Amino acid sequence: MAILITGGCGYIGSHTCIEMLNAGYDIVVVDNYYNSKPEALARVKELSGKDFPFYACDIRDEEGLSEVFAKHQIDAVIHFAGLKAVGESVAKPMMYYDNNVNGTLVLWRVMKKHGCSRIIFSSSATVYGSENASPLKEDFPTGAVTNPYGRTKYVIEEILKDICVSDEEASAVLLRYFNPVGAHESGRIGEDPNGIPNNLMPFLLQVAIGKREQLSIFGNDYDTPDGTGVRDYIHVVDLARGHVKAVEYALTHTGAMPINLGTGVGYSVLDMVHAFERINGVPVPHVIAPRRPGDIATCYSDPAKAKALLGWEAEKTLEDMCRDSWRWQSQNPKGYDE
Ligand code: NAD
Ligand code: WQD
Repeated sequence: MAILITGGCGYIGSHTCIEMLNAGYDIVVVDNYYNSKPEALARVKELSGKDFPFYACDIRDEEGLSEVFAKHQIDAVIHFAGLKAVGESVAKPMMYYDNNVNGTLVLWRVMKKHGCSRIIFSSSATVYGSENASPLKEDFPTGAVTNPYGRTKYVIEEILKDICVSDEEASAVLLRYFNPVGAHESGRIGEDPNGIPNNLMPFLLQVAIGKREQLSIFGNDYDTPDGTGVRDYIHVVDLARGHVKAVEYALTHTGAMPINLGTGVGYSVLDMVHAFERINGVPVPHVIAPRRPGDIATCYSDPAKAKALLGWEAEKTLEDMCRDSWRWQSQNPKGYDE
């Protein structure tokens, strides 16, 4: 028995590989290195002390993927492979629909051909759109998304729900991540973004290390306690452990199940900047800038369902998130390009 991890070389995938190996699972990884480097998996092997098969394969390559399933007995798939840059998805929607939606269709077809009907899918809090009030619960309406990236996540959720209605063997856990930050506590693996980061923590880290001059805080006139945007930041290792629990669930249940992976606590942009400065003793020069189009004031989870169904809850603190992010960044100023 093995668990296939698509996109296992990426930020969340590499941390999940470690937690799956620590939990005693055999894993097989596929990734096309579109947004990752081989060094990430070399470090996963070093940290876990375990080896596992890897295939440099695009999930849309039906033949290549079939060969992987022919070689290994795959019982479930954790499906991270996808493109995730919101702005890029607006400029290149076809690329996003092809990679994310078509990629998932090919993956499911190959899975079924080889008798595998269990998938854990990387969805996103973005499917809740801008019209729901936090704390966000899984039964709130979804789909009022504002960009093609978010639409791919919504559409894939709907496809997997339809499949689960039509196929009584199918199991799909739709994990809606909130805002993943942090890194493995060893400082050996972490997020290694290409180009100018869009997300808060990677940008903040590049300012802290002196690669960028200052952080622009996108708006301080939101209806929040200090006027800056509030989000549910979750440590990537907690998130990774949620996948181990989701695999256990998928192996013992059928049907489609959306589940939030968040902490249930919201922090503002200024909370994050001040916590980072205090915990690491490193200044983060910042200025207030105009709001970023498409942003909402507040987004945080109700994490009760994950606790009830998976027996999972986030354990790491804001201090852990800031300290571990900085350890990764300061020990690897060029990411995996040493
Ligand atoms: P990432 O870019 O670091 O990892 C994705 C991995 O998938 C990369 O290694 C990339 O090379 C690989 N990949 C992409 N397309 C592929 C294809 N067609 N075939 C094979 N491999 C392919 O991103 P991440 O932050 O680790 O995110 C993982 C998943 O979680 C993504 O689906 C993302 O949309 C989702 N997600 C991420 C966040 C976040 O803020 N990081 C939030 C919610 C959801
Ligand atoms: C967080 C807060 C910004 C950068 C995005 C995607 C979402 C999900 C996670 C994948 C906001 C503020 C940011 C900066 C800032 N990804 N900010 N200056 O927008 O909550 O979610 O990533 O599924 O789909 O939309 O995350 O990290 O970009 O922003 O002030 O330079 O930080 O305005 O309030 P977001 P983020």
